[in-house]
Order: sequence, then C-alpha cells, then structure tokens
Amino acid sequence: MRYLTFALTKGRLAKQTMELLEKIGISCEEMQDKDSRRLIFTNEELKLRFFLAKGPDVPTYVEYGAADIGVSGKDIILEEGRKVHEVLDLGFGKCRMCVCGRSEAAPLLSHHELIRVATKYPNIAKDYFYNTKHQTVEIIKLNGSIELAPIVGLSEVIVDIVETGSTLKENGLEVLEDVCPLSARMIVNPVSLRMENDRIREILTRLRAHVIV
Ligand code: PRP
Repeated sequence: MRYLTFALTKGRLAKQTMELLEKIGISCEEMQDKDSRRLIFTNEELKLRFFLAKGPDVPTYVEYGAADIGVSGKDIILEEGRKVHEVLDLGFGKCRMCVCGRSEAAPLLSHHELIRVATKYPNIAKDYFYNTKHQTVEIIKLNGSIELAPIVGLSEVIVDIVETGSTLKENGLEVLEDVCPLSARMIVNPVSLRMENDRIREILTRLRAHVIV
C-alpha cells in the first residue's frame, strides 16, 4: 500500500483538521510534539503522511499530486483557482468574504462608481465586481492589515474576510456587501481520486458522519 499524503494548512486549521480526523480513528502521534520544527509526519500503521504548508500553497501541492488530499479555506481555493476537486465542507473555520468600508462608501457601490478596492484576494474581488456586480473598479493587492486601506485613503473599500467583525468595528468600518460564505474544505487531487478511490471514499464517508455544516 502506498502512502496517502495530506497537506494541511499550518496553524489553527491543521489543529482542527487533526481533531476531526481523530474522531474517525486517524491520528498522528508524531505531530503531538509542540516544540518540533518538523514539517512532515507519518502514521506507519495506516500508511498516511501529513505535512504542514502555508495556506495558499496547499491547493498547489494537491494540484501537482505532491499531496493526495488537502485542507484549505474556501477563500484560498477560490483565489488560487487550482485544478483540484473540492469534496467536503468540514464545517469549521466559518467566516465570510465581504466588501467593507466606511458607511459613506455604500453609495459608491450602489452607483457603480469607478472606485479602488484593496484586498489580499484580487481574483475573488475581480470576479465579484466584474462578473457579479458588473462594476468596473481598480483592484489593489495588499498582503495583510487590509482594514488600513480605507482609513488612510488608499482605497474606498476592501474585500476581506470577516469573522467576528471586531476588526472592522474597532476601525470604524462595516460590512457593505456579502461576497460569499467561507469555511474549511477538503480538496483532492483528481488522479488520486481515481487511483486511490476506495481509501479516499472511505475517509470521506466516515468524515461526513462527524461534520456539522
Ligand atoms: C483576518 C482578516 C481580518 C480579520 C477578521 O486577518 O483579514 O483582518 O481576520 O477577523 P474578525 O472579523 O474576527 O475581526 P488576519 O488576522 O488573518 O490577518 P491579516 O490582516 O494579516 O490578513
């Protein structure tokens, strides 16, 4: 039997994924050592391997078959647009992709003005403004602390993740429009899905019984 390899998103998502996998009897003792700087872990008995990667890289590993299975946020899956099969909503990591700004920016959206949109997710923003709203905008890519942009006058609005809403509130911003709901998803390499169909199907069937969407 060959190893089935999982690519996990480093941090909270990996932790929640392992907690869910443990419920169906899949664990990885090697991963418990918190001080370890190792990036790859093996469960010899089940012939499984797990590695931790940066969020945006997970769909890349899965598309190229370096990992058979990945767990990624829906935001990353949409933004990266990799050729992977999204097979399961894991029900955790729930948040929303939204257009946000000061309340005064709302008319700029309803009047379809040519505005600047700052975001870490240029593909999602482009798709929303061009294909859903049919509004021409200038998209500015940032790498974090997106909420700064409308405060310092870089852009009129932002497209960003909202979880509790406290970052927006503390910075005098609000949700102006909803783009889409987000959560952690399981993705699979298309070739792996055919070649390892039985093993992957079994994992999915067992996971479905524990997932609360
Ligand atoms: C994310 C997101 C918002 C914040 C939303 O940022 O970009 O800034 O979390 O969460 P809230 O609604 O619960 O306040 P993250 O902390 O990932 O860092 P970033 O600014 O580097 O993107």
